[in-house]
Amino acid sequence: MMVNHGARPKKIRRAALLLAALSLLVVAVSAYMRLDGAGLGCADWPACYGQLLAREPGAPQFSIVRLMHRITASSALVLACFLVWICLRPQPVRPAAGYATLLLLLMLALSALGIWSSDPRLPLVGFMNIVGGFALLGLSWRVVLATGVAPSRETWKPRGFLLLLGVAALVATVLLGAWIGASYAAVACPSVPHCGGIWLPPDEGWAALDTPFVRLVKAALPGDAGGVTLNLLHRYSAAGAVLLLGAGGVRALARDTTRGAARVVLLLLVVELGLGGLTVASGFGLGLAVAHCVGAAALLASVVTLLRR
Ligand code: HEM
Repeated sequence: MMVNHGARPKKIRRAALLLAALSLLVVAVSAYMRLDGAGLGCADWPACYGQLLAREPGAPQFSIVRLMHRITASSALVLACFLVWICLRPQPVRPAAGYATLLLLLMLALSALGIWSSDPRLPLVGFMNIVGGFALLGLSWRVVLATGVAPSRETWKPRGFLLLLGVAALVATVLLGAWIGASYAAVACPSVPHCGGIWLPPDEGWAALDTPFVRLVKAALPGDAGGVTLNLLHRYSAAGAVLLLGAGGVRALARDTTRGAARVVLLLLVVELGLGGLTVASGFGLGLAVAHCVGAAALLASVVTLLRR
């Protein structure tokens, strides 16, 4: 029996939209703080990249950006509590209530992780923060979609296989990208499309992929086997994501219900691929690397929308 929730879905949607915008801002500001702290674009490049790994982390310096990050993250937490409240009371609005509760639990977990986040030498913490930021945006956007027009189920299944494969490749690309960022392995591969003439991950590279579980003491230097392997895996999975999501997106252009979302996915795929290549070709410009991270978040949200359609 359908429950009449009156104007609540509209209220939930507005709060979720604001939370999605705040989450995207948190992703952007965190990426800026991390990449700037890593030394992207610093004067004595690339020698100064990852210098912070060589010393004990000091007390965080006051900066406007750090203050902005605190204010945005705390506002998002308060708004998430409000969102869960209006989703659950007086009767749960499903499935929005489920996504909103997951979102709040994730935020609390990331806040707890904050205890270790000031130490950049712990790549696993950095990795979980980057991936956690994307999940926050994905979940808040999912609440927005859950309070929109419900999709018609039967038209979906046969056409979705390519998209699902593409989503798997995209998730792999994002996880590998976050791993590069958290383990300061970007400059291991300072050229595009190959890594200093290397096209395939070197044998010894696989063994070096233990970085998330060690305490870093220095950034990966150009040609570092583990870093080269990570970057090549990132680029090849990106190529796979672009081909699969591209094909699935082109097919989705044929239908009225999916055309708009498909166009956004196809556009963001090209933009994100371009930003990745430009980040490397520019010698790892800070602005491009931050845009690359934000582009990935927007691409994930657009794919969630297309799947929902
Ligand atoms: C669909 C395509 C792609 C997606 C979704 C994607 C996604 C990501 C994500 C989520 C990160 C982590 C961002 C961060 O550290 O904050 C990342 C990092 C990175 N990506 Fe990509 N990427 C894509 C394609 C590429 C391509 C084609 C290249 C190069 C040719 C590239 C080069 C890099 C580099 C160098 C980093 C490390 C930046 C750093 O943290 O220092 N990416 N990528």
